[in-house]
Amino acid sequence: QTGYVTLDRGYKNTGATKSAITFLDGEQGILQYRGYSIEDLAAKASFLEVAYLLIYGELPTQEQFATFETSIRRHTLVNEDMRKIFDGFPVNAHPMGVLSSLVSAMSAFYPDLEGSKEDTTDQHIIRLLAKMPTIATWSYKRGLGHPMNYPKNNLDYIPNFLNMMFSLPVEDYKVDPVVAEALNVLLILHADHEQNCSTSTVRLVGSSQANIYSSISAGISALWGPLHGGANQEVIEMLEDIKADGGDVSKYVDMAKNAKTTGFRLFGFGHRVYKNFDPRARIIKKAADDVLSKLGVNDPVLEIAKGLEEAALHDDYFVSRKLYPNVDFYSGIIYRALGIPTNMFTVMFAIGRLPGWIAQWKEMREQKEPIGRPRQIYTGATLREFVPIEKR
Ligand code: SDX
Repeated sequence: QTGYVTLDRGYKNTGATKSAITFLDGEQGILQYRGYSIEDLAAKASFLEVAYLLIYGELPTQEQFATFETSIRRHTLVNEDMRKIFDGFPVNAHPMGVLSSLVSAMSAFYPDLEGSKEDTTDQHIIRLLAKMPTIATWSYKRGLGHPMNYPKNNLDYIPNFLNMMFSLPVEDYKVDPVVAEALNVLLILHADHEQNCSTSTVRLVGSSQANIYSSISAGISALWGPLHGGANQEVIEMLEDIKADGGDVSKYVDMAKNAKTTGFRLFGFGHRVYKNFDPRARIIKKAADDVLSKLGVNDPVLEIAKGLEEAALHDDYFVSRKLYPNVDFYSGIIYRALGIPTNMFTVMFAIGRLPGWIAQWKEMREQKEPIGRPRQIYTGATLREFVPIEKR
């Protein structure tokens, strides 16, 4: 091998790019999008304002926002032929597999004209932001045997999504402002997180000049993993198991401490970068109390989650490894209170993360990053002669 290779499994100490989008400090527990603190944005901004900020670098003026928001509002319909692809999935297909496939299929329905030199990136950005929520609701409605809902141009982004998710032809559906506001905060908190696994996937796929739909589809697939975005579904299933098992959190803390033998991890705990409290988890934990009390929801797993957090944060195994609750630990408790089923939690993460993936893909292209192609340290067989099968 010419030159030398430094092995860095999981890229724990490798900077893959320069980026001006998101700043996070794992020691201090700081997260900022384009210089604005996540606390400020979650309290004061709308999700689409944050999407514009991440993608275009500045908070939009009223005129810029009106144009951006109107374009999205007018592109929420999905080509009806995509329903034929969707109808081919088994009813119990996981919504993340469906979402990844249909977003990839968008490259066939909204292709760039062959050889067109016009930069159509902004049109594809609008289509992704506008159509992914519509597609996301299909799995939920079909899983219930309910008719699909179409988007409505007279609804804002989040109410439109909620209406497609929960309205039924047999009764009027009124969006609860508490639910819409809670979702606004959750989507903002998930919007970007610098070079995490799924974002790095989007960048790597896009670095080969693959189109934006294929790149985002790859990011959705990476997010699905239980160690990444899929953790929010695993957390609720873990908390339900603890509840069914009598609520004894110390037993599960012990199981996690003996991960080598039990193979058990406390989902929603630990983070590659945060060696302090994940600032998003802090906001979501507080929001969980607020939203559940406003909605009059009493979910026993919230108390189990708090008990588990308390036990872990006072246990040397977790303290010594700086394992704190991450963004996925409390988010599922709010999603559930909003009526969103467990198998849709990671889809909610994908809807939130979409503007971040888009912003990072756009920056990668604008910075003309080279195609990603890491090296390896070879540990296989040395040169040997081929042996014909009759002699093997
Ligand atoms: C997200 O990167 C991002 O920014 C991701 C994300 C984003 O916004 O994009 O923040 C979203 O993916 C949050 C993480 C969601 N995943 C989980 O909650 C799954 C559970 N957490 C872990 O699997 C783990 O903490 C990771 C995957 C999050 C981080 O893994 P690392 O950095 O590779 O750390 P590691 O696996 O090397 O763990 C270090 C030690 C090990 O023990 P030792 O070998 O030193 O004895 O800590 C232990 C691990 O066994 N450990 C855990 C644990 N997480 C790590 N032990 C018990 N429970 C856990 N959850």
